[in-house]
Amino acid sequence: MMERVYVRASRDYDVLIGAGLLDTCGGEIAAVTASRRCALVTDSTVAPLYARRVEASLRKAGMDVCTYVFPAGEQNKNLTTYGAILEFLAEQKLTRSDFVAALGGGVTGDMAGFAAATYQRGIDYIQLPTTFLAASDSSVGGKTAVDLAAGKNLAGAFWPPRLVVCDCGAFSTLPPDTFADGVAETLKHGLIADRDFFDFLMKEPIRDHLPAVVKRNVEIKAAVVAEDEREQGKRKLLNFGHTLGHAIEKCSGYAVPHGHAVAIGMVLASRAAERLGYSPGGTLAAVIAANVRHNLPIKCSYTATELYDAATGDKKRRGGTIDVVVLEEIGRARTVELDMEGLRAFAEAAL
Ligand code: NAD
Ligand code: GLY
Repeated sequence: MMERVYVRASRDYDVLIGAGLLDTCGGEIAAVTASRRCALVTDSTVAPLYARRVEASLRKAGMDVCTYVFPAGEQNKNLTTYGAILEFLAEQKLTRSDFVAALGGGVTGDMAGFAAATYQRGIDYIQLPTTFLAASDSSVGGKTAVDLAAGKNLAGAFWPPRLVVCDCGAFSTLPPDTFADGVAETLKHGLIADRDFFDFLMKEPIRDHLPAVVKRNVEIKAAVVAEDEREQGKRKLLNFGHTLGHAIEKCSGYAVPHGHAVAIGMVLASRAAERLGYSPGGTLAAVIAANVRHNLPIKCSYTATELYDAATGDKKRRGGTIDVVVLEEIGRARTVELDMEGLRAFAEAAL
């Protein structure tokens, strides 16, 4: 069975969710594009696992495919790899009517999406997420980016995909910690937007309900993106746990993966919010219990000063202020605008 979620954005698109879709993605892609030339971008871990199946499906649908493989890992989500992808597209003589397919996790999707957004001033791309995190979060919403030395995702573009095809079967090869990264963003969606979903995640084994859980994640994100694609207001709520989470990633030299950093960031933000009176008592305990249940970390080894220094380079900062997300209750969130002294106090209260 295949689920379909419609995303209303500056250019609308569908998210298809099911098992075995990597073998049928060519037909689904052919249905949304007249193009018959594709550059498949994937990383060195995903390529040997899944690239052949996707190439075969695309060729079966009558498409010409060339494949670019970059070394896996957040440390390669940078201008060097991004530039190499652009050079590959140019060498392969891709035109504006051709498209990019991003096969992999959030690193692949963000970077191949940014290359598609900027190659010849923007060509179509398709997301083929293979991590639980990419399926549940990063492949939807049109944020594309690479990291700069100064911080996460500092160069990028809003560029909606043409289609997202999520084969939940691909999660079977994920290491447990990488699967848990997706659980962190899933918990985030429940915590900010859907108490019933959060309660479900606290009772049911997620792996027994993968297509349904991915679908609910995508529905929650799609509803936010439909209202505020370019993060002027409501979309900021999707950054719960991210201000200090991104700081943790940066402080660790990207050794702490994004999902794990967000998991810790949600605990730290909840502790600060409870101590500073933004969140009711019990919020922190609920977030910690969720992380513990799902084998996610609840603390980091960095000081408030280290986190503050890393967070001041974050792009959520606007002039002299930064928005942090706090829970008003489980299932409902809001932003709080802090000046730099407020952010320092927030980081100190978080530990
Ligand atoms: P990732 O892409 O680095 O994937 C994690 C690891 O899993 C990599 O080593 C990858 O090669 C491997 N992998 C991928 N699929 C696999 C599979 N099926 N089987 C075995 N191994 C597999 O990281 P991620 O956790 O998917 O994504 C994190 C990135 O996403 C971060 O850069 C983060 O900033 C970004 N992100 C973006 C958005 C957005 O809205 N654009 C949202 C959330 C996160
Ligand atoms: N992960 C945050 C966003 O997509 O806006």
